[in-house]
Amino acid sequence: MLEKLLRKKTLEMDSSISDRLTKVKNGDIPSHVAIIMDGNGRWAKQRSLPRFAGHHEGMKTVRKITRIANDIGISVLTLYAFSTENWKRPKMEIDFLMKLPGEFLTTYLPELIEQNVKVEMIGNTDGLPVHTKEAISRAMHETAQNDGLILNFAMNYGSRLEIVETVKEIARLAIANEIAIEDIDDALIDAHLMTAHLPEPDLLIRTSGEVRLSNFMLWQLAYSEFSFTEVLWPDFDEACMLNAIEEYQMRNRRFGNVEGDKGS
Ligand code: IPE
Ligand code: IPE
Ligand code: MG
Repeated sequence: MLEKLLRKKTLEMDSSISDRLTKVKNGDIPSHVAIIMDGNGRWAKQRSLPRFAGHHEGMKTVRKITRIANDIGISVLTLYAFSTENWKRPKMEIDFLMKLPGEFLTTYLPELIEQNVKVEMIGNTDGLPVHTKEAISRAMHETAQNDGLILNFAMNYGSRLEIVETVKEIARLAIANEIAIEDIDDALIDAHLMTAHLPEPDLLIRTSGEVRLSNFMLWQLAYSEFSFTEVLWPDFDEACMLNAIEEYQMRNRRFGNVEGDKGS
């Protein structure tokens, strides 16, 4: 039933979107797309609404973008939802943001399961309220067997904290003589990051016109393509997502090599 409804929704998709989707699918599809979802507060302000109204609207964008990411054939979609620096915000706003995963996952979990989406999370769970932790772990548990798109929420995530924790763990291994200093290389560091099981992002998108990383995946983004847009996150839609993927498909990724040489 739900599947039928979803298919109908896809068919109802604006024909220009579905044409673009078909073309995009014939091109090089980024395996991992990471998004810094920014601009919810400004979206609300433009409408004289409280900031939380922007966060609530942003949740609908998460649903939309998850669906199109799945349609495109992206393997991993990482969404930066709350940073380790966002604790500086007013308590009321933080409380609201901490309730969003629960609301999102309760509302959309059946749909995510239907779409074969697997929910995951990176970030420091210890710092999250119990109800937030429970909502996320329930969704992770209920989608654990799914092998479609990985929907990875970065929640209470900070790249520097992640790197500090990685350095500590590697130092412990060295002190315990489980590794030699010479064993420390890119691969070992990768293996101790929270993203150890994921490919590096091929494409990073940031909405709202800010051109910075705000402590997001500093290590993992070393060779990613960046796409910045003025569009505020609640206004980011399927067409915007396709714009970013089309932009990505025009890029020439060299990884330090010369143009045209795929390397050996
Ligand atoms: C992004 O929107 C959501 C989070 C960072 C949690 P903002 O709340 O940062 O919106 P702006 O940047 O103030 O417009
Ligand atoms: C980055 O957005 C964090 C998230 C999207 C979760 P911010 O709005 O917190 O970033 P700054 O403060 O403008 O750098
Ligand atoms: Mg912001």
